[in-house]
Amino acid sequence: MKPTKTSRRGEGPSRRPKPNAGKRIAFIGTGYVGLVSGTCFAHIGHTVICVDHNEKKIRALKRGIIPMYEPGLEALVHKNVREGRLRFTTDLKHAVRDSDIIFIAVNTPPRPDGKTDLSYVAEATRDIAETADGHKVVVDKSTVPVQTGIKVKETLNIYNPHGVDFDVVSNPEFLREGSAVQDFLKPDRIVVGVENERAEKIMREIYKPIRAPFIATDINSAELIKHASNSFLATKISFANALAAICELAGADVEQVTYGMGLDKRIGSAFLNAGIGYGGSCFPKDISGFIKIAEELGYDFHILKDVERINAEARQRFIKKLEDVLWVTKGKVIALWGLAFKPKTDDMRSAPSITVIERLRAEGATIRAYDPKAMEKAKEMLGTDRITYVENPYAAVDGADALVIVTEWDEFKNVRLKKIHTLMRHPLVLDGRNLFDPHMMEQQGFLYHSIGRPHNTHGRAANSV
Ligand SMILES: NC(=O)c1ccc[n+]([C@@H]2O[C@H](COP(=O)([O-])OP(=O)(O)OC[C@H]3O[C@@H](n4cnc5c(N)ncnc54)[C@H](O)[C@@H]3O)[C@@H](O)[C@H]2O)c1
Repeated sequence: MKPTKTSRRGEGPSRRPKPNAGKRIAFIGTGYVGLVSGTCFAHIGHTVICVDHNEKKIRALKRGIIPMYEPGLEALVHKNVREGRLRFTTDLKHAVRDSDIIFIAVNTPPRPDGKTDLSYVAEATRDIAETADGHKVVVDKSTVPVQTGIKVKETLNIYNPHGVDFDVVSNPEFLREGSAVQDFLKPDRIVVGVENERAEKIMREIYKPIRAPFIATDINSAELIKHASNSFLATKISFANALAAICELAGADVEQVTYGMGLDKRIGSAFLNAGIGYGGSCFPKDISGFIKIAEELGYDFHILKDVERINAEARQRFIKKLEDVLWVTKGKVIALWGLAFKPKTDDMRSAPSITVIERLRAEGATIRAYDPKAMEKAKEMLGTDRITYVENPYAAVDGADALVIVTEWDEFKNVRLKKIHTLMRHPLVLDGRNLFDPHMMEQQGFLYHSIGRPHNTHGRAANSV
């Protein structure tokens, strides 16, 4: 099928939906993607039922408690539940029978060998096949390797006691945690991989109120668009981190280099930030999944192997820098700002903070950590051995031998540096996100190390400021 591109001009997303104008939609998997997408589809007028096999999560949602932090989501969930367009259940059978379009938005974690674990997708697909009693459009929204749609179609046909007619669609999701609601309602593009015009028509209808370029392709191409997009973004990050390493060796400033590059419209400045490397629930697993499926298909995607290697090195170089400046880590108190893998989320999956904390603990340091939103999830994941979770950035640095900045929350950019300097036992700052100007930090009396930029060689004791 030839890709078709059109620009949509529908009602604005904030316009009040017409009652009963929408479709009946089910979401299997009520996580970051399922809950946001399901809620937004309800917001634009559809009747949505979100399913999850995690009973605790569904119980919480039924009581109005949102199981993750995502700006703007809580109010939107409450509004759409109140107005009768959004429900939650653990009963997949009921949800499937009650819907015309079923989205699969389950997790696709990495396997130890780097391949994508598709067992949750397979399980959801089988459950749909065994339950459906009439025509259904089955839409894969989870991020999956190319050719997964073919397997989904086969599975639907094999486990199909009622002889139901299924249309399979790939509809990858590009939302970013931290701005997920806005990203869903005002996306750069909507990508839909379809096997026939009937499915394309239905997908166009359900997205009608959202103004965005609508790209219809075959299923394999849609699946590849998602993997290719994430891999390209990760490549930009690793490129910036490789540049940072060269800048440190050559005595240049990576911020100036990437600024100069980014002004070129063909390059652009987004995702050219040097730092401690990418983490999170998507990039690491999507890059390794893409490498593996390419390998299976007979192509060695070496550029992506380098992207992974540079990312791991960026993190290790940061830890080495920290150990070098601390000299002896054992017995030191380290303040750590930022636990989530990026700002405006509480997601801790593959967060760089985990690697840093584990290494510091293994070396005998004590950590005092603060994050505006991820403390609860971090506590669940990392426990309390040699780490305390404190109320604010100032409590973290009180008496600390060093401050390590791992996540670039706005709150950190706006701290009172003079107070930080006074509170610290030793004014040593290791900034993994280049939040501050090195010259200004030197003037404030800090011994300041960042990524790919010149550093000063001595700080000033607090009482001499
Ligand atoms: N998180 C993101 O920013 C993002 C962005 C774009 C795409 N994606 C992709 O979307 C997919 C979902 O990601 P997520 O972050 O929402 O994951 P998540 O772990 O937050 O949510 C997945 C949910 O699916 C549920 N689940 C799994 N199998 C189930 C089944 N058989 N029946 C019912 N529920 C089931 C789990 O209990 C969980 O609540 C992944 O493939 C991911 O790569 C994620």
